[in-house]
Amino acid sequence: MSAPILVTGATGRLGQLVTARLLEHDQRVRVFTRRPETARALFGNRVEIAAGDFADRDSLHAALAGTRKLFLLSPISERLAEEQIAAAGAAVIEGASRIVKISGSDWTIDPSGVSISGDAHAAVEWHLRGLNVEHACLRPNAWMQVSLLNSIRQAANGQPLEARYGAAQVSYIDARDIADVAVQQLLAREVAEKPIILTGSESLSIRHVAGLLARVLHRPVGVAEPSGRLAPLLGGSFEHRAVAQFATLIASGRAAAVTRAVPTLLGRAPRSVASFITEYFAADAALAG
Ligand SMILES: NC(=O)c1ccc[n+]([C@@H]2O[C@H](COP(=O)([O-])OP(=O)(O)OC[C@H]3O[C@@H](n4cnc5c(N)ncnc54)[C@H](OP(=O)(O)O)[C@@H]3O)[C@@H](O)[C@H]2O)c1
Repeated sequence: MSAPILVTGATGRLGQLVTARLLEHDQRVRVFTRRPETARALFGNRVEIAAGDFADRDSLHAALAGTRKLFLLSPISERLAEEQIAAAGAAVIEGASRIVKISGSDWTIDPSGVSISGDAHAAVEWHLRGLNVEHACLRPNAWMQVSLLNSIRQAANGQPLEARYGAAQVSYIDARDIADVAVQQLLAREVAEKPIILTGSESLSIRHVAGLLARVLHRPVGVAEPSGRLAPLLGGSFEHRAVAQFATLIASGRAAAVTRAVPTLLGRAPRSVASFITEYFAADAALAG
């Protein structure tokens, strides 16, 4: 079997999907984690486990030794740029030939200066362009699995949906489509030359989402003004400030654009919000039954 692909963030939301897909493609996978026992519980003996921390350079080099490709993901934090640049540098030194990075949503990166998280991702993308390594940067829009769950739970509990972004539309993307594109870019003969801007196929306001939920639940689903505001930008953690900036940008309509990246790269339409909602309640019913 050929050299492994190192997956960072493999125990998290997206990395789990990427790891599972690489295994389905009979790829040799090594996962980088601070929690080896969690990775073992998730993937059993199907993966190699490299215990480590982005902050520990030696552990990065040990994890990347002998790998051929790197899937690069780390959580939003003030250390994101530093950690990802360290991982990319270690990958090049250890001889990896390709890096596929999960970046920020396009509207957090371009223009610069509107999102602390987007600026951190932009710094990594910039660094990658200066390295002598083939790479792809995926800029996914808001993920259904993160951005829609609150609304779905509110509807399930009989509450109105909070209109956090006012009437603004969002082209939500299913994280499974992001994982499919990441794997496509890891395994394809060549990677995309420019950042890949990933969205769903339609732009929906909270009223559209309420309509879809009402159809599945067979009862009206209302929409209400948000009960509280996110704290002002100067206070709170890096992640809290980043999320407050996302809300402002989304409310101004920046997350509404639709691209054709998923159909172009995967040859099929993106998964829809309607399907996501239907699957959510089907899984819920199966658990209850
Ligand atoms: N949600 C969205 O709508 C959206 C949109 C665009 C971009 N993104 C990007 O997606 C990324 C977040 O992805 P996610 O939600 O899948 O992440 P997640 O579920 O929060 O998982 C984070 C992963 O990072 C690993 N990790 C954290 N700190 C680490 C460290 N110091 N050393 C080694 N591993 C570490 C964790 O592994 P262990 O705990 O096992 O070590 C875990 O697997 C962010 O970069 C964000 O900007 C998200």
